[in-house]
Amino acid sequence: MIDQIKALEDKAAKALAEATSKEHLEELRVAFLGKKGEITALSRGMKDVAAEQRKEIGQVVNAVKERIGALLDERLAVIAAKEREAELAAARVDVTLPGRRRRLGHLSPLTQVEREINRIFQSLGFVIELGPEVETPHYNFDQLNFPPDHPARDAQDTIFIDEGRLLRTHTSPVQIRVMERTRPPIRMIAPGWVYRSDTLDATHSPMFSQVEGLVVDDGITFGDLFGVLNEFVHQFYGTNVKTRFRPSFFPFTEPSAEMDITCPFCEGKGTVNGARCRVCSGSGWKELLGCGMVDENVLKAVGYDPEHYTGFAFGIGIERLTMFKYGVNEIRHFFEGDVRFISQF
Ligand code: PHE
Repeated sequence: MIDQIKALEDKAAKALAEATSKEHLEELRVAFLGKKGEITALSRGMKDVAAEQRKEIGQVVNAVKERIGALLDERLAVIAAKEREAELAAARVDVTLPGRRRRLGHLSPLTQVEREINRIFQSLGFVIELGPEVETPHYNFDQLNFPPDHPARDAQDTIFIDEGRLLRTHTSPVQIRVMERTRPPIRMIAPGWVYRSDTLDATHSPMFSQVEGLVVDDGITFGDLFGVLNEFVHQFYGTNVKTRFRPSFFPFTEPSAEMDITCPFCEGKGTVNGARCRVCSGSGWKELLGCGMVDENVLKAVGYDPEHYTGFAFGIGIERLTMFKYGVNEIRHFFEGDVRFISQF
């Protein structure tokens, strides 16, 4: 009997020594020490052992149980350590490998141009003001002297949210908001998105951006308007670019004008390398912005005395300005976010 038990002990010890995985070890534990295990069976069989041998054999069985239990724990520790080692080896990082280069994002040319515009006007003493993109007809039209039947008020031209709210069609409402809030002297610009019910094509987008400008003070004249806008154009495009003013009409300025510049792309020549300039179609001129002296009715509407204060205002399209500078002939490029386009600027 004792020999049999010893033989079983040797068998178990040998099997354990050869186990290489936790799963295998668990199988062996069940086979020897589990409910139906071989060593467990020995304990169960004690009741059949003759009474005078029971004590001795019982001690041997218990010793075997303990030893096999201890061997199991030992082997488990060895296997766990090996597995951990293998895991670490697999997770090893070669710190000497060259890094993977990440492509940095790129500022939209519109953002770059807006910042440049801000910088130029700030250098001339202008402050930057912002207004909401969702406006009321009061600020977008009424206070700007638009008559009740003006076509811009039509749902065909303007994106209305409901009767009392619309997406601003220009940045001019910021003029009103600032004049209502403060007193002259005013010297501000207001960059931002504007919206019109236009179909997207090469030169029109239902969403584009403008920079509004407003100066109100004692004795401001058209000469100040000329001086400021010429200075802006020279700083932005270079001193070779010439300007010209044509009479125009806006409800909120009187007199009103449109300012053209000699085409910055072909330098006013109308041709680039012998071919017709694609920016000005050969005319040598581009219309850049609308401007004028602030209409008396606008000053009165915000409670300013037009006998005392005068001012000028202008509105620049940021996409146009950018297109002329870089020879971009598709406004759509600005909104598609294609990094191949954006990263050229
Ligand atoms: N708000 C006008 C437009 O969007 C531009 C403008 C601004 C004209 C200020 C004159 C003075 O067309």
